[in-house]
Amino acid sequence: MVVPESQEKIYHPPPDLQRDAHVPDFSSYLEMYKKSLENPEAFWKEVADEFFWKKPATGPMLQYNFDVTKGNIFVKCMEGAKTNMCYNVLDRHVKEGNLGEKVAYYWEGNSPEHHKTITYGQVLSHTCRCANVLKQLGVKKGDRVSIYLPMIPELVYTMLACARIGAVHSVVFAGFSSESLCERIMDAQSSVLVTADGVYRGDKLINLKQISDEALEKCREKGSSSVTKCLVIKHHVLRTKTGTSCNKLQTSWDSDRDVWWDEAMSDSSEECEPEWLDAEDPLFILYTSGSTGKPKGVVHTVAGYLLYTFLTFKCVFDHQPHDVYWCTADIGWITGHSYITYGPLANGASSVLFEGIPVHPHVGRFWEIIEKYRVTKFYTAPTAIRLLMKYGQEPLQKYDLSSLRILGSVGEPINPEAWQWYYEEVGQGRCPVVDTFWQTETGGHVLTPLPAATPLKPGSATFPFFGVEPTILNEHGEEVEGEAEGYLVFRKPWPGIMRTVYENHERFENIYFKKFPGFYVTGDGGRRDKDGYFWITGRIDDMLNVSGHLLSTAEVEAALTLHPDVSEAAVVSRPHKVKGECLYCFVTLKDRREFDKKMVEELKKMVREKIGPIATPDFIQNAPALPKTRSGKIMRRILRQVARNERDLGDLSTLSDPKVVEVLFSQRSEAAT
Ligand code: WTA
Repeated sequence: MVVPESQEKIYHPPPDLQRDAHVPDFSSYLEMYKKSLENPEAFWKEVADEFFWKKPATGPMLQYNFDVTKGNIFVKCMEGAKTNMCYNVLDRHVKEGNLGEKVAYYWEGNSPEHHKTITYGQVLSHTCRCANVLKQLGVKKGDRVSIYLPMIPELVYTMLACARIGAVHSVVFAGFSSESLCERIMDAQSSVLVTADGVYRGDKLINLKQISDEALEKCREKGSSSVTKCLVIKHHVLRTKTGTSCNKLQTSWDSDRDVWWDEAMSDSSEECEPEWLDAEDPLFILYTSGSTGKPKGVVHTVAGYLLYTFLTFKCVFDHQPHDVYWCTADIGWITGHSYITYGPLANGASSVLFEGIPVHPHVGRFWEIIEKYRVTKFYTAPTAIRLLMKYGQEPLQKYDLSSLRILGSVGEPINPEAWQWYYEEVGQGRCPVVDTFWQTETGGHVLTPLPAATPLKPGSATFPFFGVEPTILNEHGEEVEGEAEGYLVFRKPWPGIMRTVYENHERFENIYFKKFPGFYVTGDGGRRDKDGYFWITGRIDDMLNVSGHLLSTAEVEAALTLHPDVSEAAVVSRPHKVKGECLYCFVTLKDRREFDKKMVEELKKMVREKIGPIATPDFIQNAPALPKTRSGKIMRRILRQVARNERDLGDLSTLSDPKVVEVLFSQRSEAAT
């Protein structure tokens, strides 16, 4: 890793940011990085000293096996220690740090008229009351609680309440369908579901309670009735809104099962002793798409995740006490878990918690919010940047963005054009852009610039975070040195890496560790340039990234083939101006059915219902037959080329019927959008 001297344009850290930064220059980064690898014990011990431990660790900071040929894969952090996440992110600040009056969240509703300010003291008292409510509903240490909520403060209280009593939360993004919610509840065998009556997303009213009822009904039909209680939050904004739309929400009620949040909370005490957990007890499960189609329940544990989200947040956003930080992600994804809930709270930060969408009620909403709260650190996704770029400079110019100091990007590779616009127009050429590469599995940033230390190359996630040792492997699993491209893998764990796939350790080992023994395989391609900078080249498995959300082609194919008239389906990605990638689907119909607009609508509906609106296909094309090898394997490479209209097909000799390809090209124009 060197400071590059090349011809490319390099963006150096602004000197005023370097003055008080936690990692003030590149040589400090290199020194700390070296220490984190050479002496991880001392490095992580120093981080752990920031926190409260009911019982100190008896084992080393990190123990692991990453080599399947040597036995089971495991990672342990601070074995023997006892602590509580909730205590460390709330009580510690309120009781020991005098931050009770400090703002934890500026909540900004879907409509600009709705907002409120919540202090650390208030988060603590709501959380304790919620923890007592959960206990009342029968939740005990180790039980799972599914959470299906919009971006409201109660979502954070519920997560922290689970953490306080040692229950394991499983947050399900509130844009998922009832089918997806059911699948996740069943896999986790949750005993309680926490949801809300409904929420506005832009102009659209979403009836969350109804979706939850449907999900629970589906669980029952499939023979699983683990959920015995459903806690329902009355979203007051809906109730107090005048007009008719709120009355549309007819909340059905099962009086044996359903409990109103308000009623339960009003009788509940603010005193709740935290449950002292083992360092390696599970904190949460979060489902992410798996390439076989079945989502994986990624498990994170208490101590390692605390240390890692704390330190990455502190260094990557160079957190300072007077910052106002805003991450636009939804808490239903890992970005929200690590960088709206846990990382910022562990640092005692003040964050904006935003319920709405970037373009409601107008396309300047993000900029308006930055001005309103004087946001200093702003973290969003390339898909949002590309969307807002379309509206030009005008919406930006209406607002004062001079408070901004650092900009962040996450979720997918950021293309240079979007990077430039973000840097020049949003950051006014003043704010470093931290392009953070990581995954649900990694728990926190693993490749990322540090804003006052790292010279930036647009589009590169630059260098590893402390404790992280990336490398590039070729097809044979050999490490390639210097300038190289191949599989991006990690050689050893850091405290925040996932521990297992929920109730399926074998799947965990198979997915991440079997291909190249001794390494954690990310599933992403990576390139290292001559200066040692890392560039993510995209997924190398059958996953695709739509607007920063990972989807597996297999899960969309499974949804399409549920349609009674579809005999086969194959899904590939196609580049998309705003979403990064989009879904291009090929379907082979059974003889009885014509491929027409109605069919396309039915198929889109099928996918929306099965997975959720984020998976809605952009293109569906009729495929009288699919290109297959003689052994019957679909050649996706060819389908990708058809989707992109690239006619230079190369070698087709392995196809059992090469004529299929011409037919597919000829039917392209009929692909419905
Ligand atoms: C992609 C999101 C390039 C990558 C935090 C990864 C990125 C997947 C970046 C994980 C980035 C995330 N540059 N690609 N800065 N950040 N990705 O689990 O393909 O939802 O494997 O976690 O997103 O997505 P996940």
